[in-house]
Amino acid sequence: MKKTVLVTGAGGYIGTTLVPKLLSKGYKVKAVDRYFFGLEKLDENPNLVYIKEDSRRINEEIFANVDFVIDLVAISNDPSGELFEEATYQINHISRVRTATIAKKMGVKRYILPSSCSIYGFQDTKVDETAKTNPLTVYAIANERAEKGVLPLADKNFCVTIMRQSTVFGYSPRMRFDLAINGMTYGAWRNKKLPLMRDGKQYRPMVHVQDTTDVMCLLLEIETVKINGELFNVGGFTNNYQLGELGEEVARAVSEKLNEEIKIEWYGDIDYRSYSVDFTKIKTILGWEPKWNASMGAKDIIDRLEDGTLEKNTDTITIDWYNDLIKWHKIIKNAEMYGGILDI
Ligand SMILES: NC(=O)c1ccc[n+]([C@@H]2O[C@H](COP(=O)([O-])OP(=O)(O)OC[C@H]3O[C@@H](n4cnc5c(N)ncnc54)[C@H](O)[C@@H]3O)[C@@H](O)[C@H]2O)c1
Repeated sequence: MKKTVLVTGAGGYIGTTLVPKLLSKGYKVKAVDRYFFGLEKLDENPNLVYIKEDSRRINEEIFANVDFVIDLVAISNDPSGELFEEATYQINHISRVRTATIAKKMGVKRYILPSSCSIYGFQDTKVDETAKTNPLTVYAIANERAEKGVLPLADKNFCVTIMRQSTVFGYSPRMRFDLAINGMTYGAWRNKKLPLMRDGKQYRPMVHVQDTTDVMCLLLEIETVKINGELFNVGGFTNNYQLGELGEEVARAVSEKLNEEIKIEWYGDIDYRSYSVDFTKIKTILGWEPKWNASMGAKDIIDRLEDGTLEKNTDTITIDWYNDLIKWHKIIKNAEMYGGILDI
């Protein structure tokens, strides 16, 4: 019997890489999303069911025959979290604790919460999973509250695991150029100038979208005794960068690809979020290490930009896209009569 995985936020950056991977491994997938970034980014498949629903309104029926839940749904970055504060707490915290609670009641066996290393905020020493957290933004606080809400649900019948992901990078069908490596790569490719947030000394771990989705798949298969009620930092020591050196590595990769000089272009105020992360636990307990590094991810993105299969549109910058949707929602509501604009 094929197992069924319910993925929330399935139409997002991580979801559109994860869902095809789960299908290729023989799982059935229920893909729950508002599909703010479009339904077409997930190809149809006989084992895939699209469920267009708000995570805040998920009901018990959705969990019928579901074995595992991967709860990706979120307003997914710091600037969007600051702008849409109330929605971020509702979606990233309240709805995910509610989803986990219903999942447990409905007999789901495993629940995975994809959280973020950003909950470490600012740290002056390398931090492992036992370190005191220090979330500095609405997005990070909401993730921490979600962690605290779902972990106590773990018991012998309901396996709960938290992934504290590094900042993700690399190509995905719902592309995000608002992520550090992806944005650097695009600027360097397009303008021969790599945008770098001041002052470059901040530590930030990175993980490729293929690697973090591999961990999600592994967490569905590995013995529960190793992961139940556990938190894992997801990343690897070689991808634990200071942003200045990361910028130089990406610039070198782009320069090698294009055979052109790439300059660094500094922007913004000094970024006080800085955390260097210890990844011993995931390596020891799951026996997992990342396969991708920044240079490989940047080169892969450039290949796709060069062959025209990847473009930068407004929907690749998360906050711009949500602002556009809100603006157009108002315009359309004002212009619409009898269910249409010119054709009624
Ligand atoms: N990308 C990263 O660098 C990174 C790093 C650490 C953690 N994470 C976490 O991983 C998860 C996924 O991130 P992502 O990069 O794929 O984000 P994303 O913005 O690309 O995807 C989020 C998805 O959720 C959907 N959505 C938003 N609100 C919804 C609602 N109320 N109901 C139903 N659907 C809704 C959106 O349509 C979108 O498809 C998030 O929880 C994020 O916090 C991401």
